[in-house]
Amino acid sequence: MDDLKAKYLGEISAAADEAALEAIRLAAVGKKGEISLKMRELGKMTPEERQVAGPALNALKDEVNSAIAAKKAGLADAALNERLQTEWLDVTLPSRGRPAGSIHPISQVTQEVTAIFADMGFAVAEGPQIEDDWHNFDALNIPSHHPARGEMDTFYMHRAEGDNRPPHVLRTHTSPVQIRSMLEKGAPIRVICPGRVYRADYDQTHTPMFHQVEGLAIDKDISMANLKWVLEEFVKSFFEVDGVELRFRASHFPFTEPSAEVDIRCSWDNGQLKVGEGDDWLEILGSGMVHPKVLEAGGINPAEWQGFAFGMGIDRIAMLKYGIPDLRAFFDSDLRWLRHYGFAALDQPDLASGLSR
Ligand code: PHE
Repeated sequence: MDDLKAKYLGEISAAADEAALEAIRLAAVGKKGEISLKMRELGKMTPEERQVAGPALNALKDEVNSAIAAKKAGLADAALNERLQTEWLDVTLPSRGRPAGSIHPISQVTQEVTAIFADMGFAVAEGPQIEDDWHNFDALNIPSHHPARGEMDTFYMHRAEGDNRPPHVLRTHTSPVQIRSMLEKGAPIRVICPGRVYRADYDQTHTPMFHQVEGLAIDKDISMANLKWVLEEFVKSFFEVDGVELRFRASHFPFTEPSAEVDIRCSWDNGQLKVGEGDDWLEILGSGMVHPKVLEAGGINPAEWQGFAFGMGIDRIAMLKYGIPDLRAFFDSDLRWLRHYGFAALDQPDLASGLSR
């Protein structure tokens, strides 16, 4: 018995890996293992012999089993330690000088605009860029043969022959989100709707895809004066300078009555665009009191509610604020331009700490 014990405990402690351990286990206490066979011989012994050998063999079996379990755990620890040795990573090592990505001025300005209007109680609403012509036109009081449809240089979605679903367009403005928001939320309502819009147009201040932010405020007693105050507050906060001059020009949109366009005083000297000085004006938005027919299309009773709406060019105000003279550069994806005009990725614009630190 002592020989067996010495033999197996010795082998177990010398075992190099789990496979070797398993072989030892089979040889000792497996079905045909040496200790198991000895246990089977107990039946042939006299009762007296059995009384001594039985407990001794059981104890030996237990001892071998627990030695194997302990060795197994030891081997697993050793394997883990070895992995830790070879796979360690020095997280304090400085990173390689990979150029950091940056936030595009359009994204930055969208966040700035959102922060300012959120402060005035406007929620953000969104709508699809591929829009049906009811939301983009009809609901906004632009019936199918209205000249405004032509003026907008609309991109129409291709339709397969026999497809008689309502025609879809790339939305030409964010105004359809007015309709969607009214239908969804009802009155009173105060939302802004930033997003991409599309028109077939291309020059220094026009690109076929550009960005607008729509504003909509409906309540019982909202007037043109509220519109003017909101826009003036916005411009003051956004440009972070005093004395930016606004010009309200009487205008016409089918979906507002009365309507006004708003320009900002600026100069374009030697290819430099500057805001708040000079004799030039850059148009940044269209606005007005929401037309009763538009309220109706939005499921709101015009006898009870009224309000203002505006649609502002995000790209235009980004050009003005950051002195970027050519709109087309925004969408060229020129890395040098992006690095120059981009913003640090972790600076979220907010009114308390300054919009564009
Ligand atoms: N949708 C108009 C445009 O794109 C702007 C606008 C919006 C005008 C809301 C009045 C009210 O030109």
